[in-house]
Amino acid sequence: MLNRRQALLCSASFGAVAAFPAQIFAETVKHLTYPPLLDATRSQRFRLRAQAGKTRFNGGVTTDTLGYNQDYLGPTLRLMTGADTQAEVENQLRTPVSAHWHGLLVPGDVDGGPHQAIAPGQSWHPVLSLDQPPATAWYHSHVHGTTAEQVMFGLAGVLHVTDGQDDRRGLPSAYGIDDLTLVLQDRQFNRRGRMTYNSGMHDAINGFLGDAMLVNGQVGATAVVPKGIVRCRLVNGSNARIYRLSLSDNRPMHLIATDGGYLDRPVALNDLTLAPGERAEVLIDFLDGIDCSLVSDNIANSAMGGRSGGQFIVLPFAVDSTLPARISGLPEILDGVLPNLDFAGAPVRRFSLDMSMGMGMMMARANRQFSINDVAFDETALNFSVALNSLERWVVQGDLMMHPFHIHGVRFQVLSENGQQPRPENRGWKDTVLVNGQSELVVRFEKQASRSAPYMYHCHILEHEDGGMMGQFSVS
Ligand code: C2O
Ligand code: CU
Ligand code: CU
Repeated sequence: MLNRRQALLCSASFGAVAAFPAQIFAETVKHLTYPPLLDATRSQRFRLRAQAGKTRFNGGVTTDTLGYNQDYLGPTLRLMTGADTQAEVENQLRTPVSAHWHGLLVPGDVDGGPHQAIAPGQSWHPVLSLDQPPATAWYHSHVHGTTAEQVMFGLAGVLHVTDGQDDRRGLPSAYGIDDLTLVLQDRQFNRRGRMTYNSGMHDAINGFLGDAMLVNGQVGATAVVPKGIVRCRLVNGSNARIYRLSLSDNRPMHLIATDGGYLDRPVALNDLTLAPGERAEVLIDFLDGIDCSLVSDNIANSAMGGRSGGQFIVLPFAVDSTLPARISGLPEILDGVLPNLDFAGAPVRRFSLDMSMGMGMMMARANRQFSINDVAFDETALNFSVALNSLERWVVQGDLMMHPFHIHGVRFQVLSENGQQPRPENRGWKDTVLVNGQSELVVRFEKQASRSAPYMYHCHILEHEDGGMMGQFSVS
């Protein structure tokens, strides 16, 4: 059952938008479910079908949604590193879609970005050869101009890269029992329960913010967990919402992995910021058998100002001591040692993320336009090329808003944030980082991307990306 504090939090609002619907928590506890696991570690092949669906989210009417192999979202893909996996992605929709493997270190021609859009009725057959450390990645459609809408309605799923060694590491690995995949998304429903997304001017400028919290496509569900150590693979699959996550009784979350995989040891955090596109794996200790909730601060991120404040429940946890508790202690060390990259003498590249054109366009009521270094995305123009197996120092400058900056096909380390040490959750391998001022990165280019199949770099607020805050580069 929900405690007092949880009930209070339920009624906290998302700020400028409508109050969080409190009544959904009043009914009996609804158990959270996890996306079906599509384990391709043995077969080394999998199939995704982008399809139209119907979903009833919150006791309302059924609403039109999109999914891979199902009505909303897609299965969790488990892929073996060190192996080649044959993928097939079929498009059963009437519009082009893609499947971008966000976080997989694969060459540009199998990356699934805008240049690998799949026409209606067609299939795409990339081979994913993985040689990266275990990590939580994700996949989503990435067709330029429709990414925000397609992800909003469900074209996204989670990817686990594994090496089969998590038992040896002492990490929880039972899918949906003590190894929980959690896709965080905010959405908006009308009175009848239909999912709405109009990408009007406000959303187009600031990015979409909804007033209903969904985890794995479910509203108001509770995760039932064993009385032991539980692993949460947190994926921010929201279009624009930034979460600052904590636990309602202030117990720590032990960070074990960032975007690119494991740290060298767990790091106890009281709160953890997760921007769109980012992933974090945390261990939570439920050995005391006490329930608590994952909560988030309500963060305003708007070019027009706006108030942050208050908290809302992301996901209540309920301990069930009849469930098998396999892990009863935190591992002391992990094997994700961050190498010291020698970037002295590495080329420096500067990026400035800019939405002022978008603001001006808004005033003129014309099309939105966002840019990086004053140029908006142009699918036919390569912005630069870098050398394979090189390092570069990228200095990324934000503007009025915080922008989650993402680079395809690479991993990077954050050197500094506004001249300071990076936040603890940014001290591992990353592929997406929230830029709030200036961030300095050292980027390692390990895979090839040709001029005709380049990698993207962009803001992961999907409305900004669609609006042009994106560029592309080759690696050769
Ligand atoms: Cu998750 Cu270019 O995207
Ligand atoms: Cu990506
Ligand atoms: Cu942005």
